[in-house]
Amino acid sequence: MKTIVRNVENKDNKEAIREAAGLLREGKLVAFPTETVYGLGGSGWMEEAASRIYEAKGRPSDNPLILHIGSMEMIDEIASCVPGPAKKAMDAFWPGPLTVILPKSDKVPYRVTGGLDSVAVRMPSHPAALALLREAGVPVAAPSANTSGRPSPTKAEHVVEDLDGKIPMVLDGGKVEVGVESTIVDFTGEVPVILRPGKITKDELEKALSTEVLMSTLSVKEDTVPRAPGMKYKHYAPKAQLVLILGEDREKVAEEITKRVRDCREQGMKTGVIATEETMGGYDADEVISVGSRSHMETVTANLYDVLREFDHRDVDVIFSEGFEGEEYEEAVMNRLVKAAGHQMIRV
Ligand code: TXA
Ligand code: MG
Repeated sequence: MKTIVRNVENKDNKEAIREAAGLLREGKLVAFPTETVYGLGGSGWMEEAASRIYEAKGRPSDNPLILHIGSMEMIDEIASCVPGPAKKAMDAFWPGPLTVILPKSDKVPYRVTGGLDSVAVRMPSHPAALALLREAGVPVAAPSANTSGRPSPTKAEHVVEDLDGKIPMVLDGGKVEVGVESTIVDFTGEVPVILRPGKITKDELEKALSTEVLMSTLSVKEDTVPRAPGMKYKHYAPKAQLVLILGEDREKVAEEITKRVRDCREQGMKTGVIATEETMGGYDADEVISVGSRSHMETVTANLYDVLREFDHRDVDVIFSEGFEGEEYEEAVMNRLVKAAGHQMIRV
């Protein structure tokens, strides 16, 4: 299959949007930009579209998909009920990087929800995504548009890298803004629970909902039953081994990374370091890349996946990364880094 890339960065992208919407209505797949990461979309009403998504990504089919909508009315067709706190969250953060888990309606195929009786829904704020969803007129099931297990795509090039020849169309909206996936909040229980941290923080949610919100555990082992099935798989992984060096004392962290880089180089390994603007001059590895600035954490979320992919291109054997401690963007960044590292962490 030939994959066509169409630009949607400008206002006069109507034709590309119309073509893409037509493909979606036929049950075919289209990758499109959202404000978080690129999504791989297929009609949320069609089992065969969901099957195509799982196949193109190489994703286990018990890992449910998020339904994306372009207008509020569609929620009643997707969810059997919308609890008060969920309504408040949607009003406060939609369109935007928030996904809500609600009880599913009969109309949503189990193929989309991985057999669950709940469904994940989100209204993205990216103008091209909204235009596509409104033109398509169906909810669009869309996981991140990467091969399962690889870092999520934050540029159309990343999508092409993973899915070229497997899907008919990619809409290119340039580099995304947020860079990590949406915050997922489960509203099916007594208390709202954050299943995946993202740009919208626990604090912001609690303020908007005027109620307590829980954070599910950061790391989920293979042998427990996770509430978001996606949490049990290895994720976002670069090809090289990634090791996180954590600690409150930044100098100690830098010393430990320097020591480990030296040891690995002595063994003939090609080494990489994920540094920050503040520290990048201090390392002597084969490849040192700054992921952004600690004093502007939104630069770190925006660059994270791109940096992980860049290390693949530079063919390093081992990567050491600084950690990020904190309760806002840091939470989202560490959640991804810990998974990318397959839980290999050292505390100094
Ligand atoms: O920002 C995002 O959310 C991006 C863009 C494309 O919108 N999408 C995304 O989708 O990250 P995906 O498939 O890569 O991640 C969806 C996560 C998975 O961990 C999945 O297990 C969880 O959402 N999920 C989906 N439906 C669920 C449900 N009913 N209950 C619990 N978790 C669910
Ligand atoms: Mg994903």
